Amino acid sequence: MRIRPRKPMDEPAIETLVARCFPAERRGRTATLLRGCSAPLPDLAFVAVDGRTIVGSVACHPVLWEGADGTRRPLVLLGPLVSHPDRRGEGIGRALMMKATAALDRLGADSMLVGDAPYYGRFGYSADATGGWLLPGPVEPERLLLRARTPALWMGPARILPAAAASGAARCRAA
Ligand SMILES: CC(C)(COP(=O)(O)OP(=O)(O)OC[C@H]1O[C@@H](n2cnc3c(N)ncnc32)[C@H](O)[C@@H]1OP(=O)(O)O)[C@@H](O)C(=O)NCCC(=O)NCCS
Repeated sequence: MRIRPRKPMDEPAIETLVARCFPAERRGRTATLLRGCSAPLPDLAFVAVDGRTIVGSVACHPVLWEGADGTRRPLVLLGPLVSHPDRRGEGIGRALMMKATAALDRLGADSMLVGDAPYYGRFGYSADATGGWLLPGPVEPERLLLRARTPALWMGPARILPAAAASGAARCRAA
């Protein structure tokens, strides 16, 4: 198994894998709303391949943090992270997360995600600074996680918005 950057030709296989890992009732949730129609950030999207088969994937999308005074700052939303259901526990998720967080660090980008702290804590994500955040859909507070160089900068009342909000782009169908 190796990790490599995501390529356009990977899209159908990734789509199939993500659909398999996230059953219908888990789609249309808050992270999906936040991703909106934004494309994955090219330097922050990776696949795990075994031979020619894609066995895992991670992508990141741009979002906006808007503080109570209207200040907006870009933030990266990590996810979805998936590994093939038949290949769980082999370290695929970990390898993808190590690759993605190293790339985030190289870019100097802080990131958030909606996920389980017991899994993502090992990669530096925590809910410590996100208590005042409002998202476009429901989220359990303990699953709203941030990985930041200076977490205090992101603390306090804030809204997290799809990046399209910056350009006033028309709403697009969530992927
Ligand atoms: C989460 C996911 C990517 C982990 O992939 P993986 O390839 O099995 O991960 P790894 O092999 O690197 O790590 C497995 C370890 O993480 C633990 N783990 C997996 N999911 C966990 C969770 N939700 N909470 C806590 N620990 C978890 C496993 O118990 C295992 O622990 P161990 O190392 O002590 O044995 C995979 O389970 C998956 O695709 N899930 C469905 C999609 C999903 O929920 N994605 C995350 C939200 S974006």
